[in-house]
Amino acid sequence: MNNVIRAVKGTHDLYGEQLRAHKHITDTARRVLESAGAIEVHTPIFEETQVFEKSVGASTDIVRKEMYTFSDRGGRHLTLRPEGTAGLLRAYIERGMKVWPTPVRLWTSGPMFRAENVQRGRQRQFHQVDYEVLGLESALIDAETIELMVAILRELGLESLKVRLGSVGDPEDRLRYNHYLRELLSPVQQRLSDDSRDRLTLNPMRILDSKNQGDREVLADIGVRPMLDFLGPAAMAHFEEVKELLEQFAVPFEVDPSIVRGLDYYIRTAFEVQHDRIGARSALGGGGRYDGLSETLGGPRVPAVGFAFGIERLLIAMQEDNLPTPSGYVLDLYLIPLDAEAVTETAIIASKLRPTLHVESAFSPKRPGKGLQEASKRGARFAGLLGKEEQKRGVLAIKNLETGEQADMRLEQVVGFVSGRQV
Ligand code: HAM
Repeated sequence: MNNVIRAVKGTHDLYGEQLRAHKHITDTARRVLESAGAIEVHTPIFEETQVFEKSVGASTDIVRKEMYTFSDRGGRHLTLRPEGTAGLLRAYIERGMKVWPTPVRLWTSGPMFRAENVQRGRQRQFHQVDYEVLGLESALIDAETIELMVAILRELGLESLKVRLGSVGDPEDRLRYNHYLRELLSPVQQRLSDDSRDRLTLNPMRILDSKNQGDREVLADIGVRPMLDFLGPAAMAHFEEVKELLEQFAVPFEVDPSIVRGLDYYIRTAFEVQHDRIGARSALGGGGRYDGLSETLGGPRVPAVGFAFGIERLLIAMQEDNLPTPSGYVLDLYLIPLDAEAVTETAIIASKLRPTLHVESAFSPKRPGKGLQEASKRGARFAGLLGKEEQKRGVLAIKNLETGEQADMRLEQVVGFVSGRQV
């Protein structure tokens, strides 16, 4: 087995219980989001690299180190999507969704790709549910968006949730904050990592999000004032309103004055949702407002707000909270041919029963005992035996594998018996 080819580090094959749990999460998100009018959109898994460079931002870890970028045979610069927002906004602009009734609510789910250090809750291919509302500036839509995210998590049964709310201000507030950070950090730049020294020029605020241990120590030593101290009156009024509205929505939250999201497109509202038993640097999800992104991508001005959460992180949280995942496929009936002549007949009977029941049939003749053993191993609820005697009489010997009860019956009776509806 030395030469076995394995899945790429940080990627997983999804099947069985895991896959069912993923579907359970997406189905729950679909129910909640579509009940609020969201439309499902699937964008391509890869886009022109500039879609992400321009939106996520050149100073972010994602763009600097984590994107799977390649040139295709036509020499196009492409990237596997590291997140969903940029692609959805590209689609919104390109497909002319601005003329749809406002607000336009879009949602998507699927795999995202980031070349991160692999650890619990951090993979290279992971899955997100992503929701975006386009067209409204009001704080009410920010609060509703946060409420919808919490509603999905609650619907899944999750407890111990913490909403951390902050504001990254308006672009002019950020300019002032970046100026302050540059003045503060330039004298100690020799102690910063190479990446953070670059960020001092590009976007000092990014240094606050650094995962480098040395950078974190410098920041702790010098004591940095939070972004919230630098909000201008407009951003502050918006922030106050979001807080008040969240109280009216009965969504508990904590103000985090120094929230830094890992993406550059945010203005004003920024939030993350955390689970008590998973580390603070592994948020279940997060989001915020990003009014300037459409213009950055060459579109019209479109105020927007949204969130995304990671399905794998939710699964960890659900395990921590001991939440069950729904049971999956149940085999109703396993058909067993008792001799070679009955093999084709059982396959045909299986095909006839399949519109209403989950049915499989054995493809070689079995002795009854062996056949029943196989049926149990597959988790079948019922077994159906077909030998010469049964064929002659036009019946199947159906056995309830839970109770041991057995009866001969004609094909027309089988569905009723197996599904519990006697005919
Ligand atoms: P994000 O915070 O980069 O935001 O990612 C959202 C969530 O995706 C994280 O909280 C986490 O649960 C999950 N996630 C991210 N990276 C990984 C990883 N390597 N492995 C496992 N899970 C991961 C965004 O992506 C924004 N697009 C959210 C947004 C939507 N903002 C506005 N609209």
